[in-house]
Amino acid sequence: MRDSFLEIEGSNFLHFELLRYGGIIPPVAQDLHRQNIERVVAESFSKANLTPNDIDAIAVTNRPGLSSSLTVGVRYAKHLSRTYSKPFIPIHHMEAHALTARINNNIPFPFVCLLASGGHCILTLVKNVREFYNLGETIDDAPGEVFDKIARRLKLRLLPEYEWINGGLAIERAASKATDANQFEFPLPLAKFRDCRFSFTGFKNNANRAISFSERKHNVAPDEVIPDHENFCGGLLRAFTKHICHRTQRAMEFCESQDFINDETGKRLVFSGGVACNDFMYVALKEMCAQLGYQIWRPIKAHCSDNGLMIAWNGMERWLEDEDIYRNVVLDEMMLEPKCPLGTSLVSEVANANLKCKWVKISNLKLN
Ligand code: KG4
Ligand code: ZN
Repeated sequence: MRDSFLEIEGSNFLHFELLRYGGIIPPVAQDLHRQNIERVVAESFSKANLTPNDIDAIAVTNRPGLSSSLTVGVRYAKHLSRTYSKPFIPIHHMEAHALTARINNNIPFPFVCLLASGGHCILTLVKNVREFYNLGETIDDAPGEVFDKIARRLKLRLLPEYEWINGGLAIERAASKATDANQFEFPLPLAKFRDCRFSFTGFKNNANRAISFSERKHNVAPDEVIPDHENFCGGLLRAFTKHICHRTQRAMEFCESQDFINDETGKRLVFSGGVACNDFMYVALKEMCAQLGYQIWRPIKAHCSDNGLMIAWNGMERWLEDEDIYRNVVLDEMMLEPKCPLGTSLVSEVANANLKCKWVKISNLKLN
């Protein structure tokens, strides 16, 4: 069934181009989408050895995202849907991230899901294919975005081993070589607030200050990297991970306090989004889950980052449930939702529960 699905995700190409060329303005991205979508779709059919007549339905991202990019995907998907009389399935980008781990694993509902990427950081309770509850999200930057900015400020690209990889992975690899990560301590944001919101801007500002300090101290030339960058990355990654583990533990305890999750439903955590490629974070979350009686999953790394398959998968999950399937799309009604929250908000309910958590000890974080 999965092979018989075609997916067109408007935002996919945009992300790729933004990463490679470091900040193309949206109209250019939209042009690139427009110029390439037909060829990409034709190549997908040819690789899959299928024709549009062989597929059951067309799933496409229509929310949230840059409307200029979403427009290209949605318009083309509608055109195909009309031309070949195929049902049309609009998809929420973050819901798709949350369901992706089910491609290769049998993960029953409900589960708690941590979504961390270059654009988002959200804790959500996933009750089924279409019922999502937002437990907390970032109030400022996303973790991947901050990793990328700090890696750039550190000038890690000057070192051949980091030249061609994304900022998050570069920081993870440098951190793995740290000999004394304690040299760099970062205060944990929102620690006083007993909720599940995240914040990453403070890390960025503190990191910039620490880098400038080290550059002055070691008299670092413009084309050099600070000598203690490995310990710096070690301290930074540890602080990010602690912040993420704390908010996730509270989300789990909140879901249990409301009986959304219990021994009968099963206790599960799914970690997804580009930042879920981070093995250090995954190992820390895994240890936390083991102590709290949760099973944990993440998609394979190629499916953690933005990809087309996750949209097709979400389309298939909806198709099987017969949810939100459009049999007759109206071509000039765009159905875009550039701003669209993920599910029903329980953010204030989490804050009102005022849960004081006893943080589990995680060996790679040396929490206390
Ligand atoms: O989900 P994604 O592919 O695109 C969106 O942002 O929607 O995520 C990309 C982000 C980048 O910011 C990148 O730095 C981060 O994922 N990332 C990582 C790792 N691999 C990719 N962050 C931390 N550790 C990694 N190994
Ligand atoms: Zn994404």
